[in-house]
This record gives sequence, structure tokens and C-alpha cells, in this order.
Amino acid sequence: MGIKMHPFFFCFLLLLLVSPHSYGESEEDEFEEIKRSDFPKHFFFGASTSSYQIEGGYLEDGKGISNWDVFSHIPGKITNNDTGDVADDHYHRFLEDIELMHSMGLNAYRFSISWTRILPRGRFGKVNKGGINFYNKIIDNLLLKGIEPFVTIYHFDYPMELERRYESWMSSQMQDDFVEFAKVCFEEFGDRVKYWMTINEPEMVAILGYRMGSFPPAHCSPPFGKCSMGNSDREPLIVVHNQLLAHAKAVSLYRTHFQVKQGGSIGITISIQMYEPLDQQSDTQAVDRILAFYVGWIYDPIVYGDYPKEMREILGSELPSFSDEDKRYIKGSLDFISINHYTTKYAKDCFHSSCPDEVNRPINAFVETTPYRNGILIGDPMGIPGLYVVPRGMEKVINYIKQRYPNHSIFVTENGYSMRPSDGNKVETILNDWKRIKFHKSYLAALARAMRNGGDVRGYFIWSLMDNFEWIRGYDTRFGLFYVDHLKTLERRPKLSAHWFASFLGGYSQQLTQLSSI
Ligand code: BGC
Repeated sequence: MGIKMHPFFFCFLLLLLVSPHSYGESEEDEFEEIKRSDFPKHFFFGASTSSYQIEGGYLEDGKGISNWDVFSHIPGKITNNDTGDVADDHYHRFLEDIELMHSMGLNAYRFSISWTRILPRGRFGKVNKGGINFYNKIIDNLLLKGIEPFVTIYHFDYPMELERRYESWMSSQMQDDFVEFAKVCFEEFGDRVKYWMTINEPEMVAILGYRMGSFPPAHCSPPFGKCSMGNSDREPLIVVHNQLLAHAKAVSLYRTHFQVKQGGSIGITISIQMYEPLDQQSDTQAVDRILAFYVGWIYDPIVYGDYPKEMREILGSELPSFSDEDKRYIKGSLDFISINHYTTKYAKDCFHSSCPDEVNRPINAFVETTPYRNGILIGDPMGIPGLYVVPRGMEKVINYIKQRYPNHSIFVTENGYSMRPSDGNKVETILNDWKRIKFHKSYLAALARAMRNGGDVRGYFIWSLMDNFEWIRGYDTRFGLFYVDHLKTLERRPKLSAHWFASFLGGYSQQLTQLSSI
């Protein structure tokens, strides 16, 4: 199934394409038109997904039970008690989904491997051939269509067995399990996969699962929340430490046994929010500090071999240490930088002004974040609380990475827009997602500016290919270029943004041909 366009959409799209001013925005970067030719010829333009969010087939062909399988089945944890049992049924419809990507003209696709499909019980059981076959088919069919696979090894879902045996990321044993999983992936898929990301957003695993307690295993402590167990100040630090070492050991294994023969590259993905000082005079250090706490937490050890001094100064001995041997593994354990970027907020210093108790803490870098300055929002709110449309943040993020970690190529592996429930939930309204188009155009314009300024960016992936299981928000929050009817048919329908992306990528004449046959 390719993209077929309704005449109404076509007219609307034409309007969007010919008129950069059509939204009547005041923000400077909204007025800049953006074209495929503003990016290098070999630039990757793709879409991103993750296994639990799209696959479904949760008990099929030998798959084991994951932390998310268990969590989503606990009543009250997910909006509408949705689960990922079926999700987008990508497990059975992957060929159709690859065709959707092909019809848009994507040259890359980022997806993740379900740990429990490959090793249903972690190291404590056998490799599951059913899972290997599934991903082999995906990789082969992507390559057949000229789409480069970008593979995340672990994106939030791991075998429940590892939680039960030793509390997963709270234990250093998880490092061995992760390395075993990565080894099977390199062995089975590494002949064809040239871009690996070990872990998606280790800091979000820690913050959501062990500080806020909203994601599994739902650990937290007051004042952050009331969970049955956990310590919101300490556990996130341990969980990140174990993930960093797991990453470093997997990269070392890849470099020693696979990389030369297979010729691929490897990195790790973090989520970066950008920050601006609430008060230009008194809050600039707060911005530096919070960025060190979120970006430096992961990338300083990986690039330079240790945690940032800002973290050590504030957290002291609470922050775990790397042994000399650890440092040898971790320093330089990346071939590229991978970032997910959605939003920007203001940062306010809490050393010198009063902040609420739950933010005025060492683990938060003594920084409060807010979307408001003088009662005015920093940007239009998106469908997920805490996310605002601030295109200039994309340029600032790339500049920040370039300065803090010079000489590394960068991939923007996620950037996306979810509509607000108040935008309406009628199918026609969801399909007519001009706000998403506006979002991507303005963020891409900011990305192009950063690249003209010397940012070595090699690819841009839209989150997400299709509407999917948006973690605790279930199916109500939609990020997709394609609409998915989760209630009944699971049919995929291109939104206006899918047409726009196809046109942007050069599929415009193809669209016109298709239109003439309607
Ligand atoms: C995660 C995705 C998620 C998206 C939108 C990213 O941080 O990697 O899994 O769906 O944010 O919330």
C-alpha cells in the first residue's frame, strides 16, 4: 500500500508548500522555508519506532515476558488500561509498514529489538530462533527497498526474569545480560546493520523508572512520589552507572570481535531538552548545570571517561565512581552521537532563590525548570504535558553538543509532535495534522541553520512512523505520520504530514501521478 492522496489534502499541501507564511507566526524561525536540498545528498531522512510500542505479538513464536508486558497489565498504570499486546501489530504487518516508508521516500529507519524475542529469559535461557527470523526479515526487506536500518538494541523493554532475579538495572549483573544480548544481535544481524545504538535514553530509564516511579519498575520516594519501594535521590545514579558500563562493555565487544569485519558503527542515544535562562543575568549558570546533569551525565563518561565535575561537586560520594579499568572501557566508547530532541524550557537557579522542595535538590542540580516567563509560555504546548514547540532549541542543542563534544558526527534520532486532545479526536482532524508539518518544517530549518554553522549532523528521524503505544499514555497520544485505527481495523492511513514528508523528500511528482488516478 503506498500513499494515495485525497484532493482536499492535496490542495492543503500545495498551500503549505508554496506559502511559508501561511501560519501567520511571529517567531523568526517559522518564516524560513526549508528544502531537501538544504541538506547534504547523503543525509539520512528516516522515521523511528521501538519494539514494545509497535510490535504486539507479545506471546508469539517463543517471545518471553518483558517488564512492560507486566507493567501495562497492572490496572490503572496506563491511560484507558491500554497494553502493547497488539499495539500496531507490526509483528504481522511489517512488510506493509516497510512499504509505507518506501512510499514516502525514506532512506533510513530506526527501530529497536525486543530483548525478550531474542533472549526470552535473558542469559538464563536459550536464544529464540523465532525472534531472530523476525528481525532478519525486517532487515532484509528494508535493504531491498534501499532503506538503511538503524538499530537500537534496548529501548525500555527487558526480560522480566532479570527484574525478578536481581532487580535489573539496580544490579551490576544486568551489564552481563546486556552484553550477552548485544553479542547475539551483532552475531545475527551485524553483517547487514551498519548503525547500532546500544541503549535508548539511559537517563530517562533512570528518571521515569527510579525517580518519578511512573515507568516500570516504579521505584520512587517522597517528595518525588509515593511508591512501594525506591530512593529517588540515589537509585537513578546507580541505574545510569550500570547502563553506562553495559554500553561500554558492549562497544568493547563490538570493536574487538565484530567491527573490523562488519564495518559498522556504534553509539548510544540520549534525550536532550534545551534550556534557556529564566533571568538572563542570574540563571545562566543554572542552564550550564542542568545540561551537565542531563547531557554530561551520559556523554561525559563516554567521551571523556568520567562524570562531569558539576555533578561530582554537588552529589559528592552519592555519585558512583569508575575504576581505572571501567574508565579504559568507557572513554571513547562511541562512533557518533545520537540525540532525541523535542522541547526547550527555562531554567531557574535554586541556590539563590526559593524553589519548591521537590525540585530544590542535588539530583535536580538545584535547578527549577518552567515553561513560563512573565506568564507567557515558551512555545505552543504539545499533547504531552511538558513539551512545547520551540524550534530554535534544535539549533541550540546542536551547537551545545558541537562545543561540548567536538569532532563527533551527530544523528537526530527522534524529533516529533503529538497533537493535544483539545485539537479534537475525530479521524479527519487527526489526519489533517498541519501543526505537525509546521513543527517539522520549523525544526528542520533550525537544524539546517546549525549545520550551516558547522554542526556535523548526518541524519534526522521523525518520531514516529505511525501512531503507537505511547507508554503510560497508551494510544490516546499520537505521534505518527500515519494514523493507526487501534480500536478496530489497525488500518494505517497517511496523515497530511506523511504527504508533506514525501513531497519534501522528492516524491512530489509521484504524488501528482497518483493524484491524477484518483
Ligand atoms: C522515547 C519514545 C517516546 C517519545 C515520545 C522518546 O523519549 O524514546 O519511546 O515515544 O519520547 O514520548
